[in-house]
Amino acid sequence: MPLFPDYVIKEVADKNDIYDVISQTVSLKKSGSSYIGLCPFHNEKTPSFSVSPRRGIFKCFGCGEGGDVIGFVMKNENLSFFDAVTKLASRANITLPEVKNFDKDKSEKRKEKAQHIYEINKEAANYFYSNIKNSPEAIAYFKKRELSSSQVKAFWLGYAPDSWTGLFDHLVSKGYTEGDIYDAGLIRRHESGRYYDYFRNRVMFTIFDSNSNIIGFGGRVLDDSKPKYLNSPDSSVFSKGKNLYSINLAKHSKKKFCILCEGYMDAIALISAGYDNTVATLGTAIGDSQARMLSRFFEEVVICYDSDDAGRNATNRAITVLRGQDKLKISVLDLKAKKDPDEYIKTYGKERFNSMLNARKTDMEYLIDYFGENYNLKKSDEKIRYISELTQYLSLIPTKVELDVYASVVAEKTGVQASSIISQCGVKRAAGLAISREILML
Ligand code: GTP
Ligand code: MN
Repeated sequence: MPLFPDYVIKEVADKNDIYDVISQTVSLKKSGSSYIGLCPFHNEKTPSFSVSPRRGIFKCFGCGEGGDVIGFVMKNENLSFFDAVTKLASRANITLPEVKNFDKDKSEKRKEKAQHIYEINKEAANYFYSNIKNSPEAIAYFKKRELSSSQVKAFWLGYAPDSWTGLFDHLVSKGYTEGDIYDAGLIRRHESGRYYDYFRNRVMFTIFDSNSNIIGFGGRVLDDSKPKYLNSPDSSVFSKGKNLYSINLAKHSKKKFCILCEGYMDAIALISAGYDNTVATLGTAIGDSQARMLSRFFEEVVICYDSDDAGRNATNRAITVLRGQDKLKISVLDLKAKKDPDEYIKTYGKERFNSMLNARKTDMEYLIDYFGENYNLKKSDEKIRYISELTQYLSLIPTKVELDVYASVVAEKTGVQASSIISQCGVKRAAGLAISREILML
């Protein structure tokens, strides 16, 4: 349901010159009939952000963001459509017609509720942290994982004691209601109607969104019991498939690439080794909205998953999903020797990790080698199967030049003509056989 009539929205857009609005926060230089500057929505050193006052639009050729003046204000100031229109109307002295306040109330209420949940989560994080000092088992666990007390503090780690209502009682004593604590995903409700803590006897990892609000937690057992990790349930502020661990730090990194890993411990180990550009998924396969988020902040994603079968399958799946973002470069860091980045860096140290990182392969180079290991390319039938498997991924390549480059590599490896490989990609694409993301997500 539109909040304002179209003519009002048009008037607001017309009376707020897009150049005037954007040049308040972005330094713009004239270039032909447009202006260019450094994009405020992703990290860049050469300007690819263009504003056309004549057409009333902006567009970034680096990250793909674009839109009109209202869209700019929404994105730049993180406002709803309603709030952006209201703000621009007042800037241009336009009196807005009365609109039903229903939707505004609703979105205001949602915002307030979210703020309240962040606050409860923060109190919970403080509680988890404060428990450590009285818990020899937690202290011993951090020691075992080689986590120093400054790391524990910096990463907001904590401990949920082996108690049914420790956190619940604490939060109630701070004045929070059962309903809100429940909505934050911190307690469960027993059939009897009584509430009990969701996280018990677990080491706690605090999860922030990209604006550094605390949206949820991951809790790890201290031994080998199952499930190893328990994450906050999805809620109005937390969605495992849409957030990334440590994105709040990574987005401020000066580096142009990010390292994508699987676990909290991996991210902590890499960040502590100086890779502030590291993020981790939250126990789910990477999805489109996470890929989009990464493409907003980085030019390249280096996939650094566990080197077991599950990690390798997840790597292939991640390549498919990340390839959905046209602008993103994708590469793979295959650690081979050790199970995951945390173990790798603890065993071999930073320097060795860094040389592995510098020697990373592009996604397609990686796949060409990876599938190459599974087939005996001296045998005709295996060679055919190899190419068939590979072309499912080569079909994801959007440009002819890039496809040519990799087809030539495969041609050299197999003795099959590059043109046949390229046309097989075309055939697969046409037949809709290019690996389907939906199928991969199953
Ligand atoms: P450590 O054993 O603590 O080093 O764990 P890890 O970080 O190496 O974890 P692993 O590679 O086993 O799993 C990667 C990530 O998947 C974890 O960080 C969690 O986010 C998630 N995960 C792992 N096990 C479980 C589980 O049993 N349940 C859920 N929901 N998530 C899990
Ligand atoms: Mn691990």
